[in-house]
Amino acid sequence: MELTGRVAVVTGAARGIGRALAERFAAEGAAAVVVADLDFDGASGVAEAIGPTALPVRLDVSDESEISTFVADVLARYGHIDLFCSNAGITTGHGLDAPASEWERTLAVNVLAHIHAARAVVPAMLERGFGYLLNTCSAAGLLTSVDDAPYAVTKHAAVAFAEWLSMTYGDRGLRVSALCPQGVDTDMLRGGLAVGHRGAQVTVASGRILSAAEVADAVVAGLAAEEFLILPHPEVAKYEQYRVQDRGRWLAAMRHLRSTAPGADASQSR
Ligand SMILES: NC(=O)c1ccc[n+]([C@@H]2O[C@H](COP(=O)([O-])OP(=O)(O)OC[C@H]3O[C@@H](n4cnc5c(N)ncnc54)[C@H](O)[C@@H]3O)[C@@H](O)[C@H]2O)c1
Repeated sequence: MELTGRVAVVTGAARGIGRALAERFAAEGAAAVVVADLDFDGASGVAEAIGPTALPVRLDVSDESEISTFVADVLARYGHIDLFCSNAGITTGHGLDAPASEWERTLAVNVLAHIHAARAVVPAMLERGFGYLLNTCSAAGLLTSVDDAPYAVTKHAAVAFAEWLSMTYGDRGLRVSALCPQGVDTDMLRGGLAVGHRGAQVTVASGRILSAAEVADAVVAGLAAEEFLILPHPEVAKYEQYRVQDRGRWLAAMRHLRSTAPGADASQSR
């Protein structure tokens, strides 16, 4: 799918990867880019920087009724949605110490939001015979996430839901891609590094940290090729191969990586 003339929606677009996607889609000639985020001031700043093709909207993706009203409003305004990017996401930094409320919040933002969006937008896409869902997952959804259990579990679920959508509707005009980056230089990763979180340190030690703009480059190429898995860090495909070939060996390697992570205290298991 080329972006020229398209109507695109990006959630979590006030900063980071979402911002870079919105800016890049506009630069590629999208007719409209909806910049949706909980942070309305941030979304407005991004929309202002993009120009008249951008529309800022305050949206909490974890709230199903907000998403369905939002999609109805965008459809009423532009007539259709070519590309819906469920990109908003959160980390917890917690393991077994994460309370149930944190699991629920992470599930709501990282997984249920993708489901609410699909429920709201897929019927119109099927009726039109075309539509594209880009769901931002993570390399954590193909591998795991050191010292962040809710993140690892919800990102796996997000990949599973994207696969399910592609299997179920891929022959009826729906395109689906799962974006699975490793480390990206955004507030999410910077916040983890600032508090010395082991997972953030492992991410930095495991490969190149890309800019959000480099992720947007990979997305534009992945959408053009209509690839299901968009891997801005190509080595993630190799790591996933190791995992499926011999899970026991892969888990032993992950335990070693975790216990020798720079700056981490191997005796601490949160
Ligand atoms: N940064 C990385 O290293 C990395 C790696 C792999 C995957 N990802 C994924 O990429 C996506 C974007 O992450 P980022 O690094 O740009 O993070 P970020 O924290 O910089 O930006 C996330 C944005 O999502 C918004 N948001 C959070 N909860 C929301 C909600 N309920 N409703 C609407 N908006 C909400 C925030 O306001 C923020 O603008 C996430 O899904 C994340 O899990 C990030």
